[in-house]
Amino acid sequence: MKLWQGRFAAPMAKDADDFNQSLSFDQKLYRADITASIAHATMLGKCNIITPAEAQEIVTGLNAVLADIESGALVMEHAEDIHSFVEGELVKRIGDAGKKLHTARSRNDQVATDMRLYVRESCDKAVNLLKALVQTLCDRAHAALGYVMPGFTHLRKAQPINCAQYFNAYSEMFLRDIDRFAALRTRMNVMPLGSAALAGTSYPIDREFTASLLAFDAISQNSLDAVSDRDFVAEYLFNASLVMAHLSRLCEDTILYTSEEFGYWNIPDEYSTGSSIMPQKKNPDLPELVRGKTGRVYGHLMSILTTIKGLPLAYNKDLQEDKEPFFDTETTLFSCVSIYTALLEKIKLNVNTMYDSAGEGYSTATDVADYLAKRGVPFRDAHAITGRLVRYCIEKRKTLPSLTLEEYRAQSDVFESDVLTAVTTRASADGRNSAGGSSRAASKAALASIRRRLKKY
Ligand code: ARG
Repeated sequence: MKLWQGRFAAPMAKDADDFNQSLSFDQKLYRADITASIAHATMLGKCNIITPAEAQEIVTGLNAVLADIESGALVMEHAEDIHSFVEGELVKRIGDAGKKLHTARSRNDQVATDMRLYVRESCDKAVNLLKALVQTLCDRAHAALGYVMPGFTHLRKAQPINCAQYFNAYSEMFLRDIDRFAALRTRMNVMPLGSAALAGTSYPIDREFTASLLAFDAISQNSLDAVSDRDFVAEYLFNASLVMAHLSRLCEDTILYTSEEFGYWNIPDEYSTGSSIMPQKKNPDLPELVRGKTGRVYGHLMSILTTIKGLPLAYNKDLQEDKEPFFDTETTLFSCVSIYTALLEKIKLNVNTMYDSAGEGYSTATDVADYLAKRGVPFRDAHAITGRLVRYCIEKRKTLPSLTLEEYRAQSDVFESDVLTAVTTRASADGRNSAGGSSRAASKAALASIRRRLKKY
């Protein structure tokens, strides 16, 4: 029996009903729905719109429905959506008082409220999972302060960098993500309930009271907007998309760095997979999957943006399509962040390979140019002299640190014996002491700053 059956002479056709229903996926909202209904009934009782005794009966009944759903005793089925299911179950249990629950509200403000309660909690979970990830990145950075690795641009060796700075770079990205979820939580913590179907209600309701029961910071100021606003879902999906973008970069690095060609990191056996045909293979399926799932989260973002495009005011059933993209995004996001955090804790760094690799590819050429420039040679000339030295090295199959002072001086008599120290991998990495740079000291200071900022959430 539908909540709205009265006006109809015939029941809904089975295929129409199946197409229209949302219970199969919006049942995830059961706790939010019951929580909001308890607050609504309490307010109706306080305002004498229903009697306090009826309100009490409703609250007790709803708590019992909640307990039975959570214990598994009550299966959510045979209803159009979660709102119809909960109300129907309540009426089954307490009769007429239950039929008064829907006074002064509509499913339109109800579902908008439920979604806000749900997404709000999801923001908190996202923040917590991302905090654990940044915490792990910080631990890895701290342990790696003494190590040097190659820094790349265009995926070509550029300059040696401190290994901690590498991990810190991802901490910065995920800290921005944490901040975005925290900011969204604040921005979206506004209650639509009391907007009713679209135009508000003539009952003397107390929206501020309901909002305080549900820990909303404010009530919405326009009922037409409130019932049709899903900006917060779109924002959540965008925030999740950026997390996935950042994770996909980290996963791409993981896949490269654990390959035979790089050999910088090892993934532990417990987080690797094998091949059904090639017995020797150890594959990075987990980071590949995270990288791959980025696409589906982006797809969900596009889906919600398209759903809300061009919708006439106010509520339209199109908005029911906010749920599956949101729920799938949430599940995907949480599993990806969790699995990568677990993986990161166990990655082994091959510090000697990274160090040796950091010195290859004339990666300290900038240091040679800087050496000259600091001794008065205009940087552009220093760049050209160093370029000739690199060409000389390529021709003679030598490296910059292996050249003799005479070979340096053949290009410029500004070179003194201390250039031989300046071109070592370690000196190069430790020389970039500018704030936010790659020296050990700068990386250590940046790590302390990350830890300080993380504490705010
Ligand atoms: N299942 C619906 C949704 O998610 C609930 C609201 C239904 N409102 C309506 N006027 N048909 O949007």
